[in-house]
Amino acid sequence: MSKINCALKNYWVMAPMTRSQCPGGVPHKGVAEYYSKRAQGGVGLIITEGVSINHPSSQGYPDVPNIHTPEALLGWKNVIKAVHKHGTLIIPQLWHVGSVKSPTYPDRLLKPTLAPSSIAHPSLSAEKAILPKEMSELDISNIIEAYASAALAAKNCGFDGIEIHGAHGYLIDQFFWTRTNKRKDKYGGSLKNRVRFATEVVAACRTAVGNGFKIVFRFSQWKLGGYDEKLVHTPEELEAFLTPLCNAGVDVFHVSTRRYYDPGFSGSPLTLAGWVKKISKKPVIIVGSIGLSTDFSELNSNKKSTSMGIETLEKLYLEGQFDLAAVGRALISDPQWVEKTESKRINEIKTFQTQDLKTYL
Ligand SMILES: Cc1cc2nc3c(=O)[nH]c(=O)nc-3n(C[C@H](O)[C@H](O)[C@H](O)COP(=O)(O)O)c2cc1C
Repeated sequence: MSKINCALKNYWVMAPMTRSQCPGGVPHKGVAEYYSKRAQGGVGLIITEGVSINHPSSQGYPDVPNIHTPEALLGWKNVIKAVHKHGTLIIPQLWHVGSVKSPTYPDRLLKPTLAPSSIAHPSLSAEKAILPKEMSELDISNIIEAYASAALAAKNCGFDGIEIHGAHGYLIDQFFWTRTNKRKDKYGGSLKNRVRFATEVVAACRTAVGNGFKIVFRFSQWKLGGYDEKLVHTPEELEAFLTPLCNAGVDVFHVSTRRYYDPGFSGSPLTLAGWVKKISKKPVIIVGSIGLSTDFSELNSNKKSTSMGIETLEKLYLEGQFDLAAVGRALISDPQWVEKTESKRINEIKTFQTQDLKTYL
C-alpha cells in the first residue's frame, strides 16, 4: 500500500465505527482523544467512523462528522495530529447512507432521501422507513462530485488516504444490491451496470487526489436488513465485481464479513478476503469477530461476548489470505486490545459487551 504499506507499524487496523458523538458534524477534542488512545494502544491504521460527504441527502444518523465545514476540518486536523503522534496512520471513511435514515436522526424528514430506486430500505419497518426518491442522472453526478470533493478535502487535511464505504446496504451497496436497485438505465440490471456507480465514484476520487494517495474500498456480502444476503455467488462473479473497481483506481480492498474465518464460497476453505486477494492481487483488509466469540449481527442480543485468541487469524496470515486485520467492537471496550493481544495477555482484555457502546473514550 506504498505509504500505508511502508509506514504501518503492524497489521492492526481500527475498523470504522459510527459513534454519533460529533454534534454539528465537528470532531471535537474528545474525538481526538478517543482515536489517540487506540493509536497509543498499538493500532497501526485507524479508519474513522463514517464521515458524511457534502450533499444534503448523505446523512442518516445523528451527530455524524462531516469533512467540509471549516470547524470540522480544523477538528480533523487535531485528530490527525493526535493519532500521528503515536506513529499510527489514519484515513476517513466517506459515507452516504442512501435510503437508510435512522428514526433517531432528527433531520430525517427535513433532508432529501435519495437511493438508486424508489424502494424503502429492507432493514427498516414500514412505519420507520422513508420512501426515497430515485436518483436522477444529475443526482448521481452531484453525489459523485461530493465524494471527490471529500477525498480532496481529506488529502488537504493531512489524512493518509480515504476509505469509500461501499458496504452494509448503504448508498453504494444499494446500487450493487438487486433488492434495492431496479433501475432500467446503465446503473441497473447486470452486475456490470450495478457496479458502475461505485467505479465512477472511485474514478472521480482518484482524479481528485492523484496517484499515490491511497484509496481503500470497503464492501460486504451482508447488509443491514439482510445478514445472509449475497452480492456475488461465485468466484467468477466476484472477479466481475472487483475488476472494474481495480481499473477505476482502488488500492486496497476492505472485505467486511461477520466472521473473518468463514469460507467465502462453498467447496473451498478460502475466506472471502483470501478470494479477493487471490483475484484482485491487491492488498486486503480482513475483518469480522476478531478476538470475540460473538458477531456483529448479535450486537443487540443478550449473548455475552468472550475474548478469543488470534491463532486462526495468524494461520490465515501465514497462508497469505490477507494483509491487514481490522478490529471493531473489541477496540471500543479496550483501547489497549492490540498491545494485550500481541503480548498474549488475553485474560487482561476488557471484553466487549453491548452496553459498552453507551460510553465513549
Ligand atoms: C458501533 C458500531 C458502529 C459501526 N459503524 C460502522 C461504520 O460507520 N462504517 C462501517 O463500514 N462499519 C461500521 N461498523 C461495522 C464495523 O466496522 C465492523 O465491520 C463490525 O463491527 C465487525 O467487526 P468486529 O466483529 O471486530 O466488531 C460498525 C460497528 C459497530 C459495532
